[in-house]
Amino acid sequence: MANEFAVEMQDVLKQFVTPEGGILSAVDHVTMQIKDGEFFSLLGPSGCGKTTSLRMIAGFELPTSGKIMIKGNEMSQVSAHQRPVNTVFQQYALFPHMTVEQNIGFGLEMKGVGKAERSARVSEALEMVRLPGMEMRRAKQLSGGQQQRIALARALVNKPEVLLLDEPLGALDLKLRKEMQLELKTLQREVGITFIYVTHDQEEALTMSDRIAVMSKGKALQVGKPEEIYERPANKFVADFIGETNFMDGIVKGQNGKVVVVDLPGSGEVRVESSRTFTSGQQVSVAVRPEKLRLNHEIEGGNNLKGRVEDVIYIGTDTHYGVRFPGGHKLRVREQNIKQSQKELARADDEVTVGFSTTSPRLLTE
Ligand SMILES: Nc1ncnc2c1ncn2[C@@H]1O[C@H](COP(=O)(O)OP(=O)(O)O)[C@@H](O)[C@H]1O
Ligand SMILES: [Mg+2]
Repeated sequence: MANEFAVEMQDVLKQFVTPEGGILSAVDHVTMQIKDGEFFSLLGPSGCGKTTSLRMIAGFELPTSGKIMIKGNEMSQVSAHQRPVNTVFQQYALFPHMTVEQNIGFGLEMKGVGKAERSARVSEALEMVRLPGMEMRRAKQLSGGQQQRIALARALVNKPEVLLLDEPLGALDLKLRKEMQLELKTLQREVGITFIYVTHDQEEALTMSDRIAVMSKGKALQVGKPEEIYERPANKFVADFIGETNFMDGIVKGQNGKVVVVDLPGSGEVRVESSRTFTSGQQVSVAVRPEKLRLNHEIEGGNNLKGRVEDVIYIGTDTHYGVRFPGGHKLRVREQNIKQSQKELARADDEVTVGFSTTSPRLLTE
């Protein structure tokens, strides 16, 4: 393999002048490496710099400083249409009165590809997106989901090394969106093209990606596999943005090897395993997922905090309990409703224990 990385961003900065005359760093010194054949997602809230990153990779914007490499080649002197990438946007912008074949084959025609080859490649692209034989339909006669597939076929027909997708499913309703997520993932595996996928939807990113970069305010806060990002978030933003997390503020009392003792003032002490070293008196946030907590179920050798139930919410698959501790700390506990006629484990105002192992929480400092 010539180059292990499909795309590299090296210390990329992109600044814009704001309408008020200030300077905004839309992408703020981002370094990341996207492997060949990977399904890689840029995930973060609106305005965090996802589209700007994608536009720089595509060549529609140039970095203020830093480098972009595609397949090992530096891109600053390479124009957008010379780069081995194609982009699929949320607004798929098909030509409504043209046929599917004309829409998909348009770019090839511009490049001077002959009719016979064009037609063969369009058919092949239509097979890939599971719409074989649709060549003669008009774009405007297609449903939203079909139009998005055509937009995808239009990008795939160029056989790019890298496909850039900017919230491509954003316009679809939830059910179709879920179907298309699985299809896109399967398609990516089949064609083996590197996908860089932009989304603000954490569940979508977890479902589809080999790796995810979580972005906030122009910075890439953490890059990792879905389970790494979920199980070992690097900071509070990532822990909060991906899934649901409880945070309890505490003060480190001491550390014995891997086990850190944290005082939650007024609510008790917890012991948490960590590979990091903490100092006594240090402020930390004990971050723990609701599904890792057990209600009224002692965890031997773990933490068992006594508190009072504030609210109970039944949501079918699970029941959620809000438990308040004497020092004001609160935990949301999620219990799966496994038995058919599961009784609530507790009711509002009940005194309960919340149990969790020493390996369940993360100690976060930023
Ligand atoms: N051409 C531009 N001129 C000025 N500001 C821009 C321009 N493009 C993007 N921005 C700003 O850069 C920030 C990041 O935008 P964007 O990359 O579109 O975010 P995202 O795709 O994550 O929602 C936003 O604050 C946005 O307003
Ligand atoms: Mg965007």
